[in-house]
Amino acid sequence: MSKSARKYLIAGNWKMNLNSAEGAELAKDVVSLVGAQTDVAVCVCPTFTVLESVSKVVSGSNVQLGAQNMHFEASGAYTGEISAEMLRHLFANFVILGHSERREDFGETDAIVNKKTLAALAANLKPIVCIGETLEEREAGKVKEVIKTQLEGALVGVTAAAADALVIAYEPVWAIGTGKTATPEMAEEVHAEIRCLLAGLIGAEAAEKVRILYGGSMKPENADELLAQKNIDGGLIGGAALKASSFAALVESAQKLSK
Ligand code: 13P
Repeated sequence: MSKSARKYLIAGNWKMNLNSAEGAELAKDVVSLVGAQTDVAVCVCPTFTVLESVSKVVSGSNVQLGAQNMHFEASGAYTGEISAEMLRHLFANFVILGHSERREDFGETDAIVNKKTLAALAANLKPIVCIGETLEEREAGKVKEVIKTQLEGALVGVTAAAADALVIAYEPVWAIGTGKTATPEMAEEVHAEIRCLLAGLIGAEAAEKVRILYGGSMKPENADELLAQKNIDGGLIGGAALKASSFAALVESAQKLSK
């Protein structure tokens, strides 16, 4: 399978920004700029309280909805948590799991990310599973080791049947919100490694179907080169997703490369 068989995915992680009215405004602008094109899959991931207003705005367009986290249980005594089913009820299609900010600030382990991944898949939500090394780990030459541990830990029990739904995001922690981007070559090296590890886990054919996104200071100025890499199938965008014009420019970069 060639790269062109994988549709690019540009996903915006809005993190803890925007209230429901502001989110709806941004979503409206995103829909008007890229909501009609079908070359590239587009998804916006607002915070929980903003999902409903954004869901209404993107409904009927080609902009899909994602959440930034979820609990792995379906319901019960889990104060402050949200289940996959609750997200599906708001027409969410994607959910970001294991973001480094959740690993670092909320103690999410590979085992927790694994439970969430399985629960998301079971509920027909497409998990965007985030992995990536810290600067310290990179400098210690541990990139491959970290990626392997996180990927294999997150995907225990995931089979080839999940390949179309599964999305992996490689987000080097040192590149998130810092303005420092991995060079296209650096990113491609890790993406190729991830695909190779996936082949070992779910088989080579299924691994070719999985989209692997790059995240970490991706912006219109560096997107063309990153997205042109053989194993980079889109982006998970933080800062640049908070402005409709820069987010749309990233979608347009992917669109150019899809033709
Ligand atoms: P930035 O694009 O702001 O670096 O954030 C990346 C990110 O963490 C997306 O999940």
